[in-house]
Amino acid sequence: MEYQLCPSILSADFNRLGEQIKTLEKAGVKWLHIDVMDGDFVPSISFGMPVIKSIRKESRLFFDVHLMVTAPERYIRDFANCGADSITVHAEACDDLELAINLIKDAGVKAGVSIKPATPVNDISHLLEDVDLVLVMTVQPGFGGQKYMDECTDKIRELRDLIEKEEQEVDIQVDGGINDETLETVINAGANLIVAGSYVFRDDLESNAKQIIRRIKKISEN
Ligand code: DX5
Ligand code: ZN
Repeated sequence: MEYQLCPSILSADFNRLGEQIKTLEKAGVKWLHIDVMDGDFVPSISFGMPVIKSIRKESRLFFDVHLMVTAPERYIRDFANCGADSITVHAEACDDLELAINLIKDAGVKAGVSIKPATPVNDISHLLEDVDLVLVMTVQPGFGGQKYMDECTDKIRELRDLIEKEEQEVDIQVDGGINDETLETVINAGANLIVAGSYVFRDDLESNAKQIIRRIKKISEN
């Protein structure tokens, strides 16, 4: 299983976004988590296609786009065209989740489905053979810097058991409240794609990223 740190640029300094992405690349980061918020599915608004298009020109990182958007079907082609490598939609945001996933696959990028803390694994378990990743939200989507919700750990475990039982090749991504302490919890529960915003983008970005990558490696090898 491939473990990756996926820094969330929601916590970046947007005045220096390009420079910070370069710093992450230098530190060994391979995935970049890109949070798109529409002010409807979640209370806040972040950024959209123009920003992604602009950073795509300068970066070869894997662009992991997390759509916190109502009816994301409307925008899948646009996000693929502006440089997404994977697109993750929320189960709660789609009228027809299968259709949304098919649109993502038709656009030629990896497909992800995400569930909010209150949404059971059962709601998406029938989709395991259709998606590349399941994103288990470990906070209420919408803002960076929130506290990890402990009740989500069991969902990660349940999902990993199910994926193993069904012999599927699906990544488990976690997002929200990851720090020194919760990093170990989520990896031990079965997560392998670790989103982190405020944990990475503070003080010395390069040394944080390097250190977290090392810790992920160490915990996952234990
Ligand atoms: C929240 C976003 C996250 C956010 C995580 O809705 O999906 O990706 O940036 O921030 P931290 O890691 O600070 O909780
Ligand atoms: Zn996210």
